Parts: sequence; structure tokens; C-alpha cells
Amino acid sequence: MNRPTSLLLGALLLAGGCASAHAASYIDQRRVDAVQGDVAAGAAKATVCVACHGPNGNAIVPAFPRLAGQRAEYLAGELHKFKRGTRPESPMTALAMPLTDEDIRNLAVYFAAQTHTPSTLPPPDSQTLARGEALYRQGDPARGAPPCQGCHGADATGPEAGAEHYRAWPSLRGQNGDYLVQRLQNYRDGKLKDSSNDFVMHGVAQTLDEPSMRALASYLSSLPPASR
Ligand code: HEC
Ligand code: HEC
Repeated sequence: MNRPTSLLLGALLLAGGCASAHAASYIDQRRVDAVQGDVAAGAAKATVCVACHGPNGNAIVPAFPRLAGQRAEYLAGELHKFKRGTRPESPMTALAMPLTDEDIRNLAVYFAAQTHTPSTLPPPDSQTLARGEALYRQGDPARGAPPCQGCHGADATGPEAGAEHYRAWPSLRGQNGDYLVQRLQNYRDGKLKDSSNDFVMHGVAQTLDEPSMRALASYLSSLPPASR
């Protein structure tokens, strides 16, 4: 199988003439192959990206996501979703359209290979931090919110690497806070429904109220890069 494009297995069902009675109109991310790409070619393509995503993908503006050190399979999956026009309208929609599958693989491995730098924003107050950490670790049984660490890892860098089922599950560690809040709102409001993974987070986000989202985002954005 052509490995990187197998990410789009579900999307292949869209191809005309498919006789399946269960043709899915979303991307099946339940099994994702490792993304192989050319880091140098990705770096050459990334010059336009750093205007918003910061030096080496360490975005300074809190509303823009950091890409440095993120999983390549997750990055590639999201670029395909922008290209399909299924993430909410943003500058990314037009930027992703001209990218080829090869560009996407190269950009994904380039940003995944970059070193994540600590946040330069002032840390949140200790009460918010404690609430965010408790939610991340234990969830909120009263609201039915699951512990985030069960899927995003004890250190928030994503689940154990290697398993094809979890390859495209993102790291949240040190991600920018305003971006995290907006993403959680989008999942909750059903604005992200283009893949099996989107459905997972749609269910999770519906259990969170706004203060919980903000506490989680404050906690996650304050975490320093993991020592590797
Ligand atoms: C004009 C500003 C801008 C430029 C230039 C830009 N981006 Fe983005 N990018 C954004 C914004 C804003 C978002 C968040 C959009 C959203 O949440 O729907 C984003 C989101 C992303 C995401 C999703 C991250 C995540 O954690 O889910 C990826 C991947 C990404 N951009 C890659 C790129 C790449 C690769 C380039 C260069 C080809 C690029 N971006 C150029 C503004 C930009
Ligand atoms: C059952 C597993 C599971 C649980 C529990 C879970 N997540 Fe997720 N999360 C995922 C998957 C899978 C994705 C990738 C979704 C996609 O492709 O858009 C994701 C994506 C995200 C993203 C998007 C990251 C980005 O860069 O845009 C955020 C934010 C997030 N999760 C926050 C949380 C928080 C906060 C919790 C705890 C309240 C949580 N998740 C619990 C599986 C889970």
C-alpha cells in the first residue's frame, strides 16, 4: 500500500464508482501509517508558515498553534483536513489548497523534528493551574469528562508512540492557550467532524464547560517542553 496516502483510506471511498453501501464521507484515522518525508524539503516549504507559526513552528501569538515537536502523522492529517475545507475557515484553508501530498509529508516531518521552546507568556495563577491539572489527570466524573491523560499521555506529549491506532493523536504539551480553547469550543460545537478522531474529541468536549476549557488550556500551555 502507498503508505502515507493510506491515511486517507476513508476518503478513498469518496472516489466515484465505489459501490460500498457504507461509503464514508470522513477520513478514517483508526489506523494510520507512519509519515515518511524529507525534512530539508519541508524546511524550504516552511518559510511561508513561520510568519504565523513562529520560528521553527514555535508560535508566539497565543491564538496560533505551535507546530514544533508535534506528531508528524497528526500534522499531516490536519493539513489534509484544511485542504478538504473541513476545518473552520481560516488563513489555513487557502494556504493548504496548493500543497501536494508530498509537500504535506515533508512539512509534517519538518515541524515534528523541530525543538519546542518554552512559552514566553506569564504563567496563570496557581488556582487555575491546579484546576487544569486535576481535570487533565482525573477528568470530572460529575460531568462525565474523561481524564485527558488517558489519551494524550501522562506528560501530554501524546500516547505511547508506535501504535498505528494512536499515531495521529496529538501532543498538547506547551500548546498555546487561546488556540486550545478555540479548538475545544469547535469540537464541542460540532464544527470538526471530518474524521474518526474528530468524533472522539467531539464527545469529550461536550462534557466540558467554559471555565474547565480555560483551566485546561492554561495548564497545558504553561507546561515546559518535555525532556527527551
Ligand atoms: C496567515 C497565518 C498562517 C500562515 C502563514 C500559516 N498558518 Fe497554519 N494556522 C494558522 C491558524 C490561524 C491556524 C488555526 C486554524 C484553526 O484552528 O482552524 C493554523 C493551524 C495550522 C495547523 C493545525 C495545527 C493543530 O494543532 O491542529 C497546521 C498543521 C498548520 N497550521 C500548518 C501550517 C503550514 C504547514 C503552513 C505553511 C505552509 C502554515 N500553517 C501557514 C495560521 C497560519
Ligand atoms: C478517548 C481519547 C481522548 C480523550 C479522553 C481526550 N482526547 Fe483530545 N484528542 C483525541 C484525539 C484522537 C484527537 C485528534 C482529533 C483530530 O484529529 O482533530 C484529540 C485532539 C485534541 C485537541 C486538538 C489539538 C490541536 O493541536 O489542535 C485538543 C485541544 C484536545 N484533544 C484536548 C483534550 C482535552 C483537554 C481532554 C480532556 C478533557 C482530551 N483532549 C481528552 C483523543 C482524546
